[in-house]
Amino acid sequence: MTSDQPVQPSDPDQRDAVDAASNGHRGRRPRVAIVFGGRSSEHAVSCATAAGVMRAIDRDKYDIVPIGVSRDGQWVLVADDPARFELTAGRTPEVLPDRAHVVLPLSTRETGLTILEAGQPPKELGDVDVVLPLLHGPFGEDGTLQGFLELSDIRYVGSGVFASAAGMDKHYMKVVFAGHGLPVGPYTVITDRAWRSDPAAALDSCSALGLPLFVKPARAGSSMGISKVDDPALLETAIEQAREHDPKVIVEAAIRGREIECAVLEGHGTDAPRTSQVGEVAVHDNHAFYDYEAKYLAEADVDLTCPAEVPSHISDEVRRLSAAAFEALGCEGLARVDCFYTDDGRVLINEINTMPGFTPHSMYPRMWAASGLTYTELIDELVSLALERRTGLR
Ligand SMILES: Nc1ncnc2c1ncn2[C@@H]1O[C@H](COP(=O)(O)OP(=O)(O)O)[C@@H](O)[C@H]1O
Ligand SMILES: [Mg+2]
Repeated sequence: MTSDQPVQPSDPDQRDAVDAASNGHRGRRPRVAIVFGGRSSEHAVSCATAAGVMRAIDRDKYDIVPIGVSRDGQWVLVADDPARFELTAGRTPEVLPDRAHVVLPLSTRETGLTILEAGQPPKELGDVDVVLPLLHGPFGEDGTLQGFLELSDIRYVGSGVFASAAGMDKHYMKVVFAGHGLPVGPYTVITDRAWRSDPAAALDSCSALGLPLFVKPARAGSSMGISKVDDPALLETAIEQAREHDPKVIVEAAIRGREIECAVLEGHGTDAPRTSQVGEVAVHDNHAFYDYEAKYLAEADVDLTCPAEVPSHISDEVRRLSAAAFEALGCEGLARVDCFYTDDGRVLINEINTMPGFTPHSMYPRMWAASGLTYTELIDELVSLALERRTGLR
């Protein structure tokens, strides 16, 4: 579908964005669609990540097409203006719906994006060489978006359908890790049916884990919906809180230890995945754990140290496990692997994040910076890996 008639999105900033995107059509530089926002509770965090990437991506090397996804899932072209999407204690950024929306190619024969608006002729936005999905949580980081892009053979940064889905689900990621002999802590799962059919039995199934417990939505992030439970009388409320984010809940034994993380980056060609220096997240005592406030709003309450001050055999073990976790799930592009270095000297994997926090201040870019790769170089590396990879089954 083509048309010479430009659509006029209602928002003037978005009108500028349409013009800028159209002018880049068939330009020399690879065009990168930065997709962010989205339907999950991490919408605002995703906006903050996009702001960081928009500022840092090498504009001499790449043209960018910023595409926001509203909370109800509408794709809209947005202004190339990072300041609009910063996350601060006083402001929660959001992608708003618009009358005009962006449509991806719907078959492998097409490569261009189109803007559709009711009552207007379609407007071609031109080809996109790669999508950079900066979406966290369900409907972005969980394989759904990845599947959508696979249907039309569009290259994208990061893990494919299975690794994204397994990495989002704190239950199945543990099943896969354990199946590969990788160490994880004790847990139990409360499915929606189990909770609705026999809540007393579900509560009972947690008793073998002792106290304290961590109660989590199986598929969320940024610590949303997570509670630390010290008193069995509060378990039911904690489960209900987690269920506000996901009908499937995972309950874990609390691990006593330090939180040590590692950034993994896919290798080029047949090279093995690369691991960064390991980092430590230490949260001050006024937070029961590394909660949402500590992550995004009260950064002074958190000490991020990279390289972490741990014995070298521990950092080696975290790096080995992180690369093994990346391969166990069949990850591509990037992942951050979060481990516990327990008080009794073991290393356990807590979780893998296939689209980790990615602002310049986030742990993933910081660990690479400490390992000699700047934020701008890291973005370049990720886009290059995505451009190099083949489409279809890999
Ligand atoms: N089993 C556990 N034992 C001790 N602390 C935990 C445990 N699970 C989670 N936490 C704490 O909660 C934080 C968030 O949990 P996590 O599983 O990483 O969820 P998210 O995907 O939201 O980041 C962790 O960084 C850690 O501080
Ligand atoms: Mg985490």
